[in-house]
Amino acid sequence: MINKLQTILWFLKKPQYIPQIVQVLKRRKNATHENTRDEATKWCKENSISQQEALKFLIGKGTFTEFKELFPEAFAFARQQVANCPVEMGGEGAISFLYHLVKANHSKKIIETGVAYGWSSLAILLAIQNQHDAKLISNDMPYIKMNNDDFVGCVIPENLKAKWELQRLPDVKGIPLALKKLNHEIDLCHYDSDKSYTGRMWASPLLWSALKTGGFFVSDDINDNIAFKHFCEQVNRKPVIIEHFGKYVGIIIK
Ligand SMILES: C[S@@+](CC[C@H](N)C(=O)[O-])C[C@H]1O[C@@H](n2cnc3c(N)ncnc32)[C@H](O)[C@@H]1O
Repeated sequence: MINKLQTILWFLKKPQYIPQIVQVLKRRKNATHENTRDEATKWCKENSISQQEALKFLIGKGTFTEFKELFPEAFAFARQQVANCPVEMGGEGAISFLYHLVKANHSKKIIETGVAYGWSSLAILLAIQNQHDAKLISNDMPYIKMNNDDFVGCVIPENLKAKWELQRLPDVKGIPLALKKLNHEIDLCHYDSDKSYTGRMWASPLLWSALKTGGFFVSDDINDNIAFKHFCEQVNRKPVIIEHFGKYVGIIIK
């Protein structure tokens, strides 16, 4: 009861996040699909390839240098920021892979959902730092009741922020707004926010419809449930799937 009251109070203090409540309630309708981790993990395992193979297929480059070797200073700064952060947030994903994908795609208009410390934002911003006119819009709502607002994106150094815009909204408001700002035309999308079946099945078609032909739709933690598989079937695409520390990332080309 106290827990529920604290949650209500949190939303009342931050009314911009209230639309997320409706999204969460919608999950009840998809209850059977929401609990499909085992099925999704099996599918991912059976279809995954190495990160090297995936890059060879996607960008024609089969070997890659790790992010921390390419950018030792930025990596050390980020690690220090995480160590100094008083709240624990979602950790780094396959950032070396993401960096090379964005760089090779010469992506200019990028949307990312889910920031937390900002590891993926950092990888994307470093990949576009010398790309004229490039922009990353990241959308994030903080973890409920965790007081992490001030630390969202804390691994990103000041010198990389010129090409970055952070929207602090729930996906349901933030994704349409980001798409509008980019004239409904994007080169790449990295989805790493609402991992529920309901959240993914709502956001994926919207982002996909704005993706340019040849653009990459990158989705994190796709083994959480069967949504990514269902979305691939919906758009009739065979995904590229990679594993990263027991989690899976899916990539579809538009
Ligand atoms: C796994 S973390 C993101 C990690 C980040 N991409 C990285 O590589 O460091 C997920 C983030 O998405 C946010 N999030 C979860 N659901 C969301 C929603 N419905 N709308 C916006 N942000 C959401 C979480 O609060 C958290 O900050």
